[in-house]
Amino acid sequence: MKFSRVFGFVLAAFTLLTVSFSANSGWTSKELATLQSLWLDSLPEKPSDPSNAYADNPKAAELGQKFFFDTRFSKDGTVSCATCHMPQNGFVDNLPQAKGIGTTTRKTMNIVGAAYGKWFFWDGRADALWNQALGPLESAVEHGGTRTQYAKTIAKVYRSSYESVFGQIPNQDFWNDIPDRAGPTGNANQQRAWQNMNPQQQETVNRIFANLGKAIAAYEMNLKPGRSRFDQYVGELVNTSADGSTAASNSSQTLSEQEIAGLRLFIGKANCIECHNTPRFTDDSFYNVGAPDLANIAFDNGRQNVYRTAILAEFGCRSTYSDNTDRCPSVQNTAETPAFLGAFKTPSLRNVAEHGPYTHAGQLASLEDVVMHYSKAPSANVGENVIKPLNLTPTEQSQLVAFLESLTAPINAPASMLISPIMP
Ligand code: HEC
Ligand code: HEC
Repeated sequence: MKFSRVFGFVLAAFTLLTVSFSANSGWTSKELATLQSLWLDSLPEKPSDPSNAYADNPKAAELGQKFFFDTRFSKDGTVSCATCHMPQNGFVDNLPQAKGIGTTTRKTMNIVGAAYGKWFFWDGRADALWNQALGPLESAVEHGGTRTQYAKTIAKVYRSSYESVFGQIPNQDFWNDIPDRAGPTGNANQQRAWQNMNPQQQETVNRIFANLGKAIAAYEMNLKPGRSRFDQYVGELVNTSADGSTAASNSSQTLSEQEIAGLRLFIGKANCIECHNTPRFTDDSFYNVGAPDLANIAFDNGRQNVYRTAILAEFGCRSTYSDNTDRCPSVQNTAETPAFLGAFKTPSLRNVAEHGPYTHAGQLASLEDVVMHYSKAPSANVGENVIKPLNLTPTEQSQLVAFLESLTAPINAPASMLISPIMP
């Protein structure tokens, strides 16, 4: 009896001590593990994509960089990938809806670190980085060209550098018989011209078109997120806890008190980490978070319309143009289908302060607006918003914004890869 009273007292004192320890100066070991899971050092040094045999080929990357910046891969010589993914601007354009040959209905996505992803586009309709690149090239509102035009451009302008990576291209006689503008997704004339080509001609053009995507992807593999103040902070925590000294994590030179409070909310009460997790702050999954509808754009069903397309796509990860199908992603349980209505990919939050306006069609102007949106969690226009209102105080909201701003960092890529290269 006496013993248990003493024991109880010791236990209570000990609990008090631990609680005050974590309140004053540190994170619990569980929280520390969570922070480490978001840390840049936990990201594999290089992304990998077995479905693209050229993914790690430096010559393919060099060629892909040229393709990325070359406006000849467009309907009228005015658009390249860099028109929207502007390297001098963190590879985005900061427009609510991207503009190429025409205007799209969605916001330009961040491509830095995208190579670590699983599904591509806001709705995940591409299942490999290299086949993603083929989408905008043939989209009427983006590059607006056709695959015969692109294959002919490569045969004419890039022949030797292409052949040194991907092997031989047929000689000029072959190309004389290929229409300048033909493709299965073009306008009626272009589709007819494509159907009139023989299968061997189509196959040759398709192969070069797929390799165009593979070279661009090889380039994009090199654009990696850089070390932010958040990463420095976690680095300091990890080092201090490893050498046994006290981690003074609520007062740090690296993050302000406000930013640390925001981080606590992010992994705690606000539970942003449920979806924005891993070192890229994304789980590569799809949710309806009730982003507001836009008056000028028809409601976007998001993942719902396309979740099977990636698997069936002509250039899919499991198609004959893929170099390895072992690690192709698969669509989960079809029981998830209702949740796919109005669902979009969780975006990475690295450098998010530079990526506004926010959500898939730039519906929310600022980070303040995004955080307020999560706090109120209005019901979705179509489908169901999976977020429950967080009812954050104005102080908590600005703490979260401050934390998000601490994720800004220079891109981790060789300087030569961040500029327009010399074109052939
Ligand atoms: C007209 C502007 C525009 C052009 C040109 C453009 N993009 Fe995009 N990019 C976008 C938009 C908008 C999205 C999202 C589209 C969607 O979800 O339907 C996107 C999405 C992406 C993604 C997906 C990122 C992710 O995490 O899912 C990658 C990668 C990408 N683009 C690379 C490229 C490449 C490579 C090119 C050139 C071949 C290119 N883009 C040309 C605007 C553009
Ligand atoms: C249930 C999963 C989920 C949770 C929880 C969640 N997010 Fe998101 N987040 C998403 C998805 C999905 C989108 C894209 C929605 C869209 O475009 O319609 C998004 C978009 C964003 C964007 C816009 C990024 C951009 O580039 O446009 C920011 C910023 C953001 N979330 C921050 C947060 C914060 C802060 C929290 C916690 C308060 C949070 N998220 C909680 C899934 C989630």
